[in-house]
Amino acid sequence: MIPKSFIQDLLNRLDIVDVIERYVPLKKAGANYAACCPFHSEKSPSFTVSQSKQFYHCFGCGAHGTAIGFVMEHAGMGFVDAVEELARSIGVPVPREALAPGQVHQKIAPDLYEVMQAATRYYREQLKQSPRAIDYLKRRGLNGEIAARFGIGYAPEAWQNLNGITSSYQDSSLVETGLVIEGEAGKRYDRFRDRIMFPIVNARGQVIGFGGRILDSGEPKYLNSPETVLFEKGHELYGLFQAQKAIRNNQQVVVVEGYMDVVALAQHGVGYAVATLGTATTAYHVQKLLRLADQVVFCFDGDAAGQRAAWRALENSLPHLVDGKRISFLFLPKEHDPDSYIRENGTESFEQLLHESLPLSGYLLRELSAQVDLRTQEGRSNLLEHAKPLLMAITAPTMALLLRKEVAALAGITQLELEALYGVKAMGAAPRRATQKAGRPAASNLRVLLRCLLFKPDLIRELPQEIADEGADSEAIEALSAWLLAQDGEVSSAVLIQSFQGTAHEPLFAAEQAEIMQWGETFDVDAEFQGVLAKLREETRKRKFEALNARIAGKELKALTEQERLLYSQLYKPG
Ligand code: UTP
Ligand code: MN
Repeated sequence: MIPKSFIQDLLNRLDIVDVIERYVPLKKAGANYAACCPFHSEKSPSFTVSQSKQFYHCFGCGAHGTAIGFVMEHAGMGFVDAVEELARSIGVPVPREALAPGQVHQKIAPDLYEVMQAATRYYREQLKQSPRAIDYLKRRGLNGEIAARFGIGYAPEAWQNLNGITSSYQDSSLVETGLVIEGEAGKRYDRFRDRIMFPIVNARGQVIGFGGRILDSGEPKYLNSPETVLFEKGHELYGLFQAQKAIRNNQQVVVVEGYMDVVALAQHGVGYAVATLGTATTAYHVQKLLRLADQVVFCFDGDAAGQRAAWRALENSLPHLVDGKRISFLFLPKEHDPDSYIRENGTESFEQLLHESLPLSGYLLRELSAQVDLRTQEGRSNLLEHAKPLLMAITAPTMALLLRKEVAALAGITQLELEALYGVKAMGAAPRRATQKAGRPAASNLRVLLRCLLFKPDLIRELPQEIADEGADSEAIEALSAWLLAQDGEVSSAVLIQSFQGTAHEPLFAAEQAEIMQWGETFDVDAEFQGVLAKLREETRKRKFEALNARIAGKELKALTEQERLLYSQLYKPG
């Protein structure tokens, strides 16, 4: 555990411009620094770094964060590794918080990676000595070069093969890495026996897990490493390490279901394929892939499970769509998976299918209209019902707008009618604002307030309680005030942003950070803050006054209590 105060110190001592310059050359542009974004491909620079605020934001792909976030994203490191790397760069040691009694130490011992590496070496060695395993791979059409590239190996039949890769078979690292299972009475045995071994590698090329396939038939077909301190399934993609270069060069990535699909595609020259690891495509996967490439194609098997997987991928993609990037779906013929398809029909035919893949919007509309009978009023009403949560999940403004138009057309209503029905503000205002209750302060003023607080967190001390309560409608402001008030001493924007990384409020904060980028260093935030407070006060006054007015409703002041009458006269403002 790294103490929070250290993260704060670290962010205060680093200069994000120095940090980013180690990886990407920056040019001064007005109050900020700019570069072509390292997270997506572009020709004119929309990646912007604020030195005064110590954060970055890409106006093209939406990548954003602090110096820590940048190193995590750019070098593919975890939080702890990124902090250690940055601390090393300015020559300060990282302190560790003592663990409470009974708390488990989650720090990854470096030797766990070494154990995985030793196991990989061992399995590869065993493959060379097993004609049966070699024959199996050959029958599946793999050559030695591809097997080497993916580090494919073989786990022999015995129960304690791995006795020998560490100093003792009793070593706890064997169990911690999931390579060995400890049964009743502490009896230990290898998890993987008589299986083809596919190493799962992280972004830095370290082996973090394995998938083991049975030769020929048997159950289960694949056995996978359990989740360990090294391996988190929803975060990893099989083959990403090997595919990175091809993804960048082609600006395209294909997501498939199986280990064999990735390997077979690579063998046939499609090097930009990755697979989810027996889990659904997560939002985390989608975000990661959209940073790496302009186009993501989901290519799942032609069976019913593949169809379900595609729909899950669509649902998890909606909140992360980026205007200008393309997500599409390729549905193979029923009897095929990518491996069998490319072996039977060749690379050109597969690439042609990729080229013709169905855009996410088309897939969404196709599925929505297939579920209902558009000839009846009930059917069209159902369509609007089913489409609502999906459309409202999209934050990319252009994409959301175009889909609203199309769904409206399908339902036979106008776009404006649909937007009124869904509570969407006209002109493509962010859909999540749609839940704003009538009569509450307008979202835009609260957003400006939030922006001021992000720019200068210290302003929290000048936020009147009354306004803070009003803001309770906006959960982000509530969460921000609560957090700020719990800090002792001043906090910087970067510390604040780092603390909200990964929370539900992150997207909203990111949008405001983008606005702040345009404010420049000499911006008079105090005046802006006082201005928006005045507006919010006036809104509050009006709302309260109107509420009392509604109570009176022609019944004269008698309808009010003594106290309310006093309030009414205070709230009254001519004109
Ligand atoms: P598939 O059955 O489609 O695998 O499962 P595949 O890669 O095409 O395998 P081959 O061609 O039959 O050899 C897709 C993925 O689902 C997970 C694995 O990650 C597999 O690659 N899976 C499947 C399991 O984890 N366990 C299983 O028993 C089956
Ligand atoms: Mn297969």
